[in-house]
Amino acid sequence: MILYYTGTGNSRHLARILAEKLEDELVSAAELIREGRTGDFRSEKPWVFVCPTYGWQIPHIFRDFIREASFTGSREAWFVMDCGSEIGNAAQGIRSLCDEKGFHFHGVMQIKMPENYIAMFSAPSPETAEKLIRIGGRQAERAAALIAAGQDFPEPPVRLLDKLYSGPVNAFFYKFCIGDKKFYATDRCISCGKCAESCLLHNISLEQGRPVWHGSCTHCMACINLCPTQAIEYGKHSVGLRRYYLK
Ligand SMILES: Cc1cc2nc3c(=O)[nH]c(=O)nc-3n(C[C@H](O)[C@H](O)[C@H](O)COP(=O)(O)O)c2cc1C
Ligand code: SF4
Ligand code: SF4
Repeated sequence: MILYYTGTGNSRHLARILAEKLEDELVSAAELIREGRTGDFRSEKPWVFVCPTYGWQIPHIFRDFIREASFTGSREAWFVMDCGSEIGNAAQGIRSLCDEKGFHFHGVMQIKMPENYIAMFSAPSPETAEKLIRIGGRQAERAAALIAAGQDFPEPPVRLLDKLYSGPVNAFFYKFCIGDKKFYATDRCISCGKCAESCLLHNISLEQGRPVWHGSCTHCMACINLCPTQAIEYGKHSVGLRRYYLK
């Protein structure tokens, strides 16, 4: 089973390729989270987990979802993490998670995809995004071939800096950077409600036709990137930046 989590579509894109190549079922963790459901999964085929990188780790929301879910059948697990630049030492946390769940961990493959984190960085030009998506797709095909052959993903070298990023910096990042206080909507808002619909945590409601954020945000960047009129901003940082979402 290919179980994926996505905010802005990159991970879904790679997960679809993996599902097609492996002729396996595709399941969206974000949809289950949106419906308030815990996973109760059964498969004799390998488990393939696909997600973005949040602060050099798998997103805590996805980690917690996997933690709470039950997995019956196969004990073989591969992870694919897409990122804007790098996943650091994410493998260490994933290995512990696999130990917890009784999975045999076959490695994590890093796939560079277009950056979506416009609260802190910026999204690439459409040309660069297209190139990254094309190359990323080929890497996903390679990942599928390794999984089909039952082979481990190659283990990349881990630097001291990677340990720092995925360890204390990740903890700092979640404590101090992830939050919705800086989101606001400008006069460009047309009250379409797409931002509220897009939030897997039901964290946005429309009040007098304008979105209001309610304090429970995992920084998936769906709302700000999906708004059809680019009415949502995150502090000053996002102003004038290109939006990014892969359907
Ligand atoms: C909250 C947040 C944190 C991120 N942290 C990292 C990171 O540590 N390293 C990195 O290379 N990319 C990081 N990114 C970029 C995303 O991992 C990347 O764009 C990913 O492909 C988005 O996947 P999605 O479209 O499936 O949500 C971050 C993005 C977000 C929203
Ligand atoms: S998606 Fe954009 S235009 Fe639509 S309600 Fe939200 S902020 Fe307004
Ligand atoms: S408020 Fe926006 S960024 Fe936060 S979880 Fe919801 S959709 Fe994602």
